[in-house]
Amino acid sequence: MRIASIEDTNERGMHTMTTRMTMTEKREVILSGIRPTGRLHYGNYFGAVKNFIDLQGQDNVRYYFIADYHALTTISEREDFYQQTIDMLRTYVACGLDPAASVIYRQSDLPCTAELTLLLGMITNIGFLERGTTYKDKMSKLEETPGGVEGNPLSYGLLGYPVLMAADILIVRANKVPVGDDQRQHLEMAIDIAQRFNSRFGKTLTVPEGISRNALRLPGLDGSAKMGKSENNTLDLLDDPKTVLKKIKSVPTTTDPEPLNIDSNDPDDVIPRMPNSVGALYRLLHLLAPKDVYLDFVGKYRRGEKFYGTLKTTLAEYVSAFNAPIIEKFNDPANSRESVEDFLRENAKKVTPVALDTVEACRAAMGIGHSLYRA
Ligand code: TRP
Repeated sequence: MRIASIEDTNERGMHTMTTRMTMTEKREVILSGIRPTGRLHYGNYFGAVKNFIDLQGQDNVRYYFIADYHALTTISEREDFYQQTIDMLRTYVACGLDPAASVIYRQSDLPCTAELTLLLGMITNIGFLERGTTYKDKMSKLEETPGGVEGNPLSYGLLGYPVLMAADILIVRANKVPVGDDQRQHLEMAIDIAQRFNSRFGKTLTVPEGISRNALRLPGLDGSAKMGKSENNTLDLLDDPKTVLKKIKSVPTTTDPEPLNIDSNDPDDVIPRMPNSVGALYRLLHLLAPKDVYLDFVGKYRRGEKFYGTLKTTLAEYVSAFNAPIIEKFNDPANSRESVEDFLRENAKKVTPVALDTVEACRAAMGIGHSLYRA
């Protein structure tokens, strides 16, 4: 009797797996994660979220999640990650991510990710993790300026960041992962971990591939290479017109532009020839204003006219016009905290069966067998 019931379960388990595999053979499974950073800025939007929105039209399975466990790898004091996550999601929805078109969830609503991280950790060497560039950068920063590094760089969690990221990807059997340059090595580490698992324990995990995010790395308003929350140089999607104008006006601009020495008007040709902070203004203008407005200002730059004042007020108007509908939708009662919580709950329910299936398969492959009881 007992043996028969175990066989039953196994058979059912196998059955679910084969049906799902035939389904996913045809359709790509895309997964991407983003850390909860509070308010979304233009760098997040044009670097990641816009790409997620563009992929919505295609016939594939899309999983997007907010990496709140990952946020804890650099924690130094208690922050309200929950509220930040909810607000980020409200902004996502406000700028066009359709909660019905993709499975959008919170990483920590899938706690079996932590179990997979533990299992994968058993076959991941410390030396391999110590060679990660993000980790190495943090360590060398720590040597230069002890105390000047975010969070606790000596934590087990930070060293294990790539294992957690591998678990995120492998748990939903994603085969396509859109990543920007800064995450490419982490993705390669995930591929490596999956291959190692499969060669040790038999083909259990889907080995993912990266797809180029085709994303733009927006410069910061201070002229530094990257717009980022910790650099405090962001333009935010929820900034009101007054804030927008203030931020844009304070962008440092030199009075005498250097000659461009090139005929092309393509932003990828002209912007690198401008001082960084001026380039940031032109990049935004190119993204938000009609082409003739952008070309008109490139012409002014070439002719060395005095134009920074008008450039800034014009750009501020386009930014505020872009933000206005987002702010309105953000505040729409249909996009309230409660409704976001409802869809997170629904989506966590959708992703959990796939994830548990993977974790169970890994447990079985490694020899500890299926869980006999799962809460
Ligand atoms: N590490 C990524 C970042 O900092 C976020 C992330 C976590 C992620 N898990 C992921 C991205 C899995 C892609 C796939 O941006």
